[in-house]
Amino acid sequence: MSVLADQQAGAAAPGSVLDLVPVVPVVVVDDVAAAVPLARALAAGGVPVVELTLRTPAALDAIRAIATEVPEVVIGAGTVTTPGQADAALAAGARFLVSPGATAGLLAHLAALAVPCLPGTATVSEVLAAREAGFTEVKHFPAEASGGTAYLKAVGSVLPDVRFCPTGGIVASTAGEYLALPHVACVGGSWLTPKDAVAAADWARITALAAATVALRP
Ligand code: 3PG
Repeated sequence: MSVLADQQAGAAAPGSVLDLVPVVPVVVVDDVAAAVPLARALAAGGVPVVELTLRTPAALDAIRAIATEVPEVVIGAGTVTTPGQADAALAAGARFLVSPGATAGLLAHLAALAVPCLPGTATVSEVLAAREAGFTEVKHFPAEASGGTAYLKAVGSVLPDVRFCPTGGIVASTAGEYLALPHVACVGGSWLTPKDAVAAADWARITALAAATVALRP
């Protein structure tokens, strides 16, 4: 059974976030009413995964709504910056956690959880700290601003046992360059759920944007 089929069969935590889809949608929800149709629109396009960022007051309720009403979607929490946020996201139903960066305290907390977590890293030293805490899969953020594929290639070449999910500034036209790197298993991006499409409830547009990413994994 594929990783996705496995996830859809039950609401267990995924084994690895990186193997679910080529592009993990990084989602900001201002209005909780948008959460369920948005998740369904992504799934209809072949992307049954949402990284819902803890950047708005609606975020935890949105995670809860998707976890309850759209169980076929693997819902995770992004922008987790404290242990307390990690716990709140899990209590709301998140099945994976992503952080933009990591302190020693956050790494230790995430490492003890039963769900997959992607700590954020930008430098070799940060990846080494994450690896020391037990992580061989990390988010690489902010990907474009810190040097794009050339930088990530250099970082990855000295850490062959680490797999990366680069995020930050990646768009449809550049995702393929990242996915072609051997140590990049998926990328993250917000371009699948543009703010204006969400505000206009243009779910068909989101489904089309999601569908266009499915074939991106080489
Ligand atoms: C993230 O939280 O991973 C980033 O904010 C997503 O970056 P993007 O909006 O540039 O895709």
